[in-house]
Amino acid sequence: TDIEKGTYPHFMLKEIDEQPFVIRKIIQKYQDDHDNIKLDSEVRQAMLDTDRVYIIAAGTSYHAGLVGKQFIEKLANVPVEVHIASEFSYNMPLLSEKPLFVFISQSGETADSRSVLVRIKELGHPSLTITNVPGSTLSREANYTLHLHAGPEIAVASTKAYTAQIAVLAILAVDTAQAKGIDLSFDPLQELGIVASVMESLTDQKEEFEEIAKEFFSETRNAFYIGRGMDYFIVQEASLKLKEISYIQAEGFAGGELKHGTIALIEEGTPVIALSTQANVNYSIRGNVQEVAARGAKTCIISIEGLEQESDTFVLPHVHELLTPLVSVVPMQLLAYYAALHRECDVDKPRNLAKSVTVE
Ligand code: G6P
Repeated sequence: TDIEKGTYPHFMLKEIDEQPFVIRKIIQKYQDDHDNIKLDSEVRQAMLDTDRVYIIAAGTSYHAGLVGKQFIEKLANVPVEVHIASEFSYNMPLLSEKPLFVFISQSGETADSRSVLVRIKELGHPSLTITNVPGSTLSREANYTLHLHAGPEIAVASTKAYTAQIAVLAILAVDTAQAKGIDLSFDPLQELGIVASVMESLTDQKEEFEEIAKEFFSETRNAFYIGRGMDYFIVQEASLKLKEISYIQAEGFAGGELKHGTIALIEEGTPVIALSTQANVNYSIRGNVQEVAARGAKTCIISIEGLEQESDTFVLPHVHELLTPLVSVVPMQLLAYYAALHRECDVDKPRNLAKSVTVE
């Protein structure tokens, strides 16, 4: 490959650092001459014509889809379902009258997603692919494409493609809302610009996350991440990152679900990382942290300006509440990176995994 690591020890670290630039690139690519969000008119029309969006994806892209559903439902008022590509054909939902299928795929080559596209094309339904590779199979075979503009992603563990997917999904949601005449009450491109600056400040504080990773992940066999609401989707991605590259058995749970089983796994010293970026769950997620701490867990809270408490391990700078995933995932990526590094794992090429899985 002619993509170089430059001064970076790993592609993953380079790609984590590139995220603010990717967000700025996306802002630039999806705005018109008047600094408004502008999408291809065919994509806009497809969003206006549908009565329900079906997001199909795998792995990290599936996690981006969970966040995208919130954007599209909350901003544009269009119902969304998110499906794991490999499960879709067994558990095909009853489709609405005018479905629109949205495939989210960094590579555009994932076989599980491709087979869903083949199936829904047979049924005559329209499709949009959101991908980092515009010439890819999923892009060529779908009706429409939105490009992530993230640049080549080499590390197996996806980082900048995930945040690019979330940013483009936000833009898709905002564009649809605008086309429907819904008043947003915030300036989306300005808020994305703030996100890019905050991402930069986070990637400038790597030592902090390296210290947390050393403290929480050097010895352990397992780890839990907890969150509620939007944060629940991010902790699922956080745990996937940690599993993929450090081989620590990790899970992301909904805070309120702990008491229904998982809390039985908490022992003296079990690491529990909690994320709290949403005002409506700040109180209850902190309650969950107390419950696991009382049972011996070693706890860490990552919160956000405005919701923080003194004992929090790290406080993220403020960003718009809907866009918190774009910044809250950065510490999670860095925690996974440093956990893998200090456990002497092969960060960029973890065992048993492939960057793009072209078999079902
Ligand atoms: C592989 C990669 C994951 C990725 C998933 C989906 O399993 O290792 O990092 O999230 O495929 O890939 P896609 O290219 O469709 O986003």
